[in-house]
Amino acid sequence: MCGIVGFVGEKNVAELLPACLKKLDYRGYDSFGFAFQNNSLLLVVKQVGRITDFNGFLAKSASIGIAHSRWATHGAVTKKNAHPHISCDGKIAIVHNGIIENHSELREKLAKKGHSFAGETDSEVAVHLAEEFINQGRSFREAARETCRSLKGAFALLFINRESNELIAARNGSPLILGLVENGTFVASDTTAFIEFTKQAIFLDDGQIAFLGKEIELENFNTGQKLSTKISHIEWDAEQAQKNGFEHFMLKEIFEQPDAIEKCIQGRIANGQAVLPELDSIAEKLGKINRIVIVACGTSWHAGLVAEYAFEELCALPVEVEYSAEFRYRNPVIDENCLVIAISQSGETADTLAALREAKKHNAPVLSICNVMGSTIARESDAVIYTRAGPEIGVASTKAFTTQLAVLNLVALFIALQRNSAPESKVTDALNGLKSIPNAMRKTLEQSKTVEAIAGLYWDKSNALYLGRGPNYPIALEGALKLKEISYLHAEGMPAAEMKHGPIALIDSNMPVVFIAVKDRTYEKVLANIEEVRARNGCVIAVSSEAATEIKNLSDSVIYIAETIPLFQPMLSVIPLQLLAYHIAKKRNCDIDKPRNLAKSVTVE
Ligand code: AGP
Repeated sequence: MCGIVGFVGEKNVAELLPACLKKLDYRGYDSFGFAFQNNSLLLVVKQVGRITDFNGFLAKSASIGIAHSRWATHGAVTKKNAHPHISCDGKIAIVHNGIIENHSELREKLAKKGHSFAGETDSEVAVHLAEEFINQGRSFREAARETCRSLKGAFALLFINRESNELIAARNGSPLILGLVENGTFVASDTTAFIEFTKQAIFLDDGQIAFLGKEIELENFNTGQKLSTKISHIEWDAEQAQKNGFEHFMLKEIFEQPDAIEKCIQGRIANGQAVLPELDSIAEKLGKINRIVIVACGTSWHAGLVAEYAFEELCALPVEVEYSAEFRYRNPVIDENCLVIAISQSGETADTLAALREAKKHNAPVLSICNVMGSTIARESDAVIYTRAGPEIGVASTKAFTTQLAVLNLVALFIALQRNSAPESKVTDALNGLKSIPNAMRKTLEQSKTVEAIAGLYWDKSNALYLGRGPNYPIALEGALKLKEISYLHAEGMPAAEMKHGPIALIDSNMPVVFIAVKDRTYEKVLANIEEVRARNGCVIAVSSEAATEIKNLSDSVIYIAETIPLFQPMLSVIPLQLLAYHIAKKRNCDIDKPRNLAKSVTVE
């Protein structure tokens, strides 16, 4: 939800910031803008549209600047509502990511004091507040501190002032990271903005404000307490955030899955055991758990649903998988014996973060499974296991999902041995099965051309159904979500057996039905469901394995995937569904990496 980036130091920000902002456009892409400060001048440029289409500035130079790529929440997509927002006297500029909840009340008060607002955003109050504090005689630093104290809600804010050589950055609930280079400092909502220049980073925490000039000074903006800085090393490479010859990031990320799983499990399997030192900090509590609650949103929630089968089968523990946004507003009955697992690619999803905080209030140990290092969810959890998928830029999650599944399976196998709830031989077989997943994925990816041809048959339909059973039921949900989000086709996923309880009424010759039909314990039942669709002239697309010989005669199209143990089959069966959504979206000329109305990281409720 909105990308922000700024720089102060010995580089020309007019050249630097457009390139950095382009790296953040997956966070929001309806409009963008820049503010540069030099020689007591403030230059502001805003535009509706995508930063990726921006050609840059002509011969401008400046050493302090801030930039923003917007995903609209309050106020339409217009130039006036694009950031940066400017004070009435034209001296201060801010960019904001998050939602300011008390904006109406502040706007009213500020308007009474004579401030005039250019647009309708919640963010604009921040710049007028800062100006108001300066009008009352405060310094730029004091005004920024006071502004942060007055705001309710979530924010990552950057302030510049044409009368100051400092860039001020503050965080409360939305991510903000400093990137350190010789003779300068970056600040951005994601490290991808500056990873090309530095891997040295400082992750700001909620309530912190950083004064960036020749030095970096860090404070708590509520108490004024000075804070020390902790430098972290980022492991991702700049090249990982490039398309490397693929037409879209999504396709590249689909094809990266075998390597991503290899990295994910590297060093985590040894001597017939899952090796997860990340769990040391909660080892004692893990020994006492009697239940697991998984909280997540979207694709990560689907990963949780798949994992439910593994935890039940291997650990004999009851599992509930909750939408984070629902969990946070209930009165969850959990205690210190309930392990809460928060799954989030970005580690910044507002609802999952709130669910994690709710769980901690109940003293439940929280394990998070995140992809983005140093993200808020990762930092606030009692233990974190990183998925090591590398940067995922396409808005539609692919490699993050399959690596989440790999980690969840490892956790299930770890707990199974700890609880003695599964025979050692079963755990060893499963771990060996996990090691063979990358090659099985490579084999499955060879079906890409077949999937593309199938997409050519169905791309102009209006609806689709996705059906699966057991751990492949969540994969049906995931397949439908992928199709919806990038091709804008209506799709529904459900357990195959549920179809006859209502949705079967939808089936006719215009309804493609995608079945995941692999040789597991429900295979025969799925065959019966396929027959029910055929009897009503529905078109059957089957994701199946060569061992399932009956499928060929029952389906209009078949996509063959490699076989593995049933618990891990979802890591393979999801691949054709990712590819199907991709190729259908491509045929429909959709903006695959940046689908309409979506953003990669949902940092608002
Ligand atoms: C996935 O394709 C979606 N873009 C979306 O559902 C995503 O999985 C969800 O917003 C959760 O994000 P997170 O994993 O970063 O928490």
